[in-house]
Amino acid sequence: MFWRTFSGLARLSSWRRPQHRAGRPRKRSPYRWILAIVAALGGLLLFCLFVVPQIRRFRFRTDLSWYDLGVHGFGPSQSYVSFDQDSPVVQISPSDAQCDGRYTFIAPRGDSVAYPGPMILDARGELVWTRHQWGTTQDFRVQRYRGEDFLTYWQGDEEDAHGRGSWYMLDSTYTQRYVVSPVGNLDGDLHEFQITPNGTALIIIYEPIPADLTSVGGPELGWLYDGILQELDIATGELLFEWRSSSFFSPNSSYEPLRDRGHERTAGYDYIHFNSVDKDDQGRYLVSGRHTHSITCIDGNTGDVLWNLGGAQNEFSDTSEDAKVDFHWQHDARWRGPNTISLFDNEVEADTDPTPVSRGMMVEVDAPARQVKLLRTYDHPQAMMTPSQGNLQLLDTGNVFVGWGHSAAYTEFTSKGDVVCDVHFGASAFFSFGRIVSYRVTKSDWVGMPNTIPDAAFAGDSIFVSWNGATEVATWRLEAWDGLNLSNMTFNPISQVPRTTFETEIPLTPELDSYLRVCAVNTNGEVIGMTDVFSRISAHPRGIFASVRNWGAVLIGIFALCCLVFGVYCAISRRLRGRRSISGGSYQPVRPRDDDDNESELDRLPV
Ligand SMILES: *[C@@H]1O[C@H](CO)[C@@H](O)[C@H](O)[C@H]1NC(C)=O
Ligand SMILES: *[C@@H]1O[C@H](CO)[C@@H](O)[C@H](O)[C@H]1NC(C)=O
Ligand SMILES: *[C@@H]1O[C@H](CO)[C@@H](O)[C@H](O)[C@H]1NC(C)=O
Ligand SMILES: *[C@@H]1O[C@H](CO)[C@@H](O)[C@H](O)[C@H]1NC(C)=O
Repeated sequence: MFWRTFSGLARLSSWRRPQHRAGRPRKRSPYRWILAIVAALGGLLLFCLFVVPQIRRFRFRTDLSWYDLGVHGFGPSQSYVSFDQDSPVVQISPSDAQCDGRYTFIAPRGDSVAYPGPMILDARGELVWTRHQWGTTQDFRVQRYRGEDFLTYWQGDEEDAHGRGSWYMLDSTYTQRYVVSPVGNLDGDLHEFQITPNGTALIIIYEPIPADLTSVGGPELGWLYDGILQELDIATGELLFEWRSSSFFSPNSSYEPLRDRGHERTAGYDYIHFNSVDKDDQGRYLVSGRHTHSITCIDGNTGDVLWNLGGAQNEFSDTSEDAKVDFHWQHDARWRGPNTISLFDNEVEADTDPTPVSRGMMVEVDAPARQVKLLRTYDHPQAMMTPSQGNLQLLDTGNVFVGWGHSAAYTEFTSKGDVVCDVHFGASAFFSFGRIVSYRVTKSDWVGMPNTIPDAAFAGDSIFVSWNGATEVATWRLEAWDGLNLSNMTFNPISQVPRTTFETEIPLTPELDSYLRVCAVNTNGEVIGMTDVFSRISAHPRGIFASVRNWGAVLIGIFALCCLVFGVYCAISRRLRGRRSISGGSYQPVRPRDDDDNESELDRLPV
């Protein structure tokens, strides 16, 4: 009975169905299809744009730690309660490494860096000082000028892989004392600011000049970036020496493809790409041209090229036994003796280059005989590929310190090339993504005595104190008002906590409800700084979204997710509707059967 009614209804509906199918779905269908296709295209585009290149660049090795595999993020960072910027969380290997105890000077930047700027870390990778800068900071290090240590860095706008800015010098209180700019109507480039013992600065400038580029397949009335080195007197700003790459190197000595460059003044052919200048006590300049693969020695009096090593205009033969002085795309060429130079050999310019191992190099140069010999290389334990940036520093211990530029790592080697200490400030599996990089990394002593006061903030039952840039704090001393005279307050010590990291937590007992302050005490027991006086208040928990900084990435992620969900929805709903219409069409053939029909069907089944 029930079945008959149902089958009647079903027949009714199947009789009515053609109307439905002729009506609603036909109107909707093309519209939904277009949406589904757009969504699928969007998803595919996002996948190709963001996921495929990343997968291709991922450098997996079986010996990677969780840190290097990116479990803590591309560039793991830590935040503070009393200080509103982050600092990297580093990985030091081996775990018992005896790293040089001095401070590390880096300028992290990249998509995974929330607060790019100059930064000092201690030997364990703990933050000492940082300052968030809106422009780009490069080449941050300590240099001596007139017997005083200065923090020096370049700051400005980066465009076209070079810079338009100036060089800054901060004293031990982090106060800006000098700003150095090139002589002439020129912008200072980011790559070099080297102070000589004579109180002069060696700097680099990229100047667009008219040039005939037909020898490299470019326009006759073209433009190239001339590499200029200047030596200036820092105190007076007087120009002491200037040398131009175009006086020696022609455009066709470059290994940099012209591509679409060279037609406009603002998009010149970057044929030489100077990236370091050094000077020895004989007054000879040593200048590195990345795109000509050349290291050139220039007479400081005449400006004559004394010799040129590497590239198309190489004058040297290689007398090394097994390894070769075959550097490419190099950085940071420095004098290490009258006949010895060091450099950072990138070896690669792009991720796609076939020989992907970058290294530090020590080279002996016999200029009269025009012979070079490779003395030593400094290789990263993970066979690092660094397509840009990088530097090599010779420590006074004899050890060699290498910053891996585009790869977020720095490594200390013995003079023989054995790894003493390898520090990563980003996940090495993702180094080729360049999400966290530092043009150079150096080691140095430093005494910082900021002319600010220490920062303090409550959280939970503790007070957190820090003092950005203060290197001399040994102990933090919590003091409470004695409760006697508000117009002449006196404080009693409550507790002392040794300072071990950037921020120190001082626990508070519940009965401490007086006015408080924290004093910074040095190793001699002298108070060198004091926080403001504060009273205890309930802590404000940090917003949950405070840590989500890369809003662009978040939005793209949400959009991609929406595309995906919509695409899946479209696919499923079509499928369901498809199935429904099939079952709708089969209402008639699949008729509810009587028990007899079932029996007869059972009879027909093979036994
Ligand atoms: C480079 O160009 C110069 C002329 O500008 C020419 O004399 C020289 O032979 C060229 N060198 C090469 C390697 O093509
Ligand atoms: C410093 O000045 C002296 C004297 O003028 C000169 O001999 C020497 O080469 C200079 N050194 C550098 C690095 O410029
Ligand atoms: C404040 O009190 C201290 C002792 O507690 C005293 O030596 C000092 O003179 C007082 N200052 C003033 C301005 O009265
Ligand atoms: C508190 O200190 C001020 C300034 O030193 C002084 O004038 C005043 O008499 C003191 N008050 C008491 C109650 O001691």
